Amino acid sequence: MAVGSRLRHIIESQQFSRALLEELFVLADDMKSQPHRYAGRLKGQLMAALFYEPSTRTRLSFEAAMLRLGGRTMGTDNAREFSSAAKGETIEDTVRIVSGYSDVIVLRHYEEGAARRAAAVSSVPVINAGDGPGQHPTQALLDLYTIRDEIGHVDGIRIAMVGDLANGRTVRSLTYLLSKFRDIRVSFVAPSQVAMRQDIKDHLDEHRVPWTEAQDLDAVLPQVDVVYQTRIQKERFPDEASYLEVKGIYRIDARAMSMLQKTAIVMHPLPRVDEISPEIDSDPRAAYFRQARNGMYIRMALLDRVLS
Ligand code: CP
Repeated sequence: MAVGSRLRHIIESQQFSRALLEELFVLADDMKSQPHRYAGRLKGQLMAALFYEPSTRTRLSFEAAMLRLGGRTMGTDNAREFSSAAKGETIEDTVRIVSGYSDVIVLRHYEEGAARRAAAVSSVPVINAGDGPGQHPTQALLDLYTIRDEIGHVDGIRIAMVGDLANGRTVRSLTYLLSKFRDIRVSFVAPSQVAMRQDIKDHLDEHRVPWTEAQDLDAVLPQVDVVYQTRIQKERFPDEASYLEVKGIYRIDARAMSMLQKTAIVMHPLPRVDEISPEIDSDPRAAYFRQARNGMYIRMALLDRVLS
């Protein structure tokens, strides 16, 4: 995908080159500092949001991004229940229909691979807004943008990914992006039941990115620039008992913050449950609300590159 070219489907993080990432970040910077310049950019374009799983940030930041660029939106939340999926329609048939009504489809689905299946039959670009435990590439873009914004650079960072790494599509997508940068070191901190999957470790090995696995978060905290905390995803466990085995295992609170470097940051894709204590929200190192806001600017830049 050449720099300057129009983007088509956004399915996985691997499709972004470093040059394309830098270009998107520069555009997002400009949209953030001079939003009025872009107000009518996507006038006449229509975004369809098909969400088969719950969402606050992704759904509304895409909608805000499209509206701020002068476009319009339509869509269905809880599409499992409120679209014809409830009558047995396949994702392929739904996407064939909706691509005839819209200029871009933003799709969140509960099955890994759903976005790829949708793209295969769509006549308009499909943007993966999370496919089960698979990937969440636009979250990874905003995560990387936030690291660059907060730390000042991506090369050379040490990052701890913490929590439910087996089910966490955001950590999977972010790891793919980080492997495009230099001197990155990754620590996976997770209980064995939800350890990072082997395909991501193999990917890091192939790209010569050093990684370690740990279960002792306290030992890792003083060594990193970024703590990327994640929620234990109750909805992806086979039963309540296996969820309860790992629930609440890692918590970032005032005690944890005291072990963190003064220049480090705490990120989280959100929503949080109990893994970040609200007592640290006012700590300047708590970057997760700024991170969520960055999502709107990154999605503005992405929609612009897909539709302009
Ligand atoms: N980070 C994220 O995907 O949040 P939502 O589930 O609210 O969209």
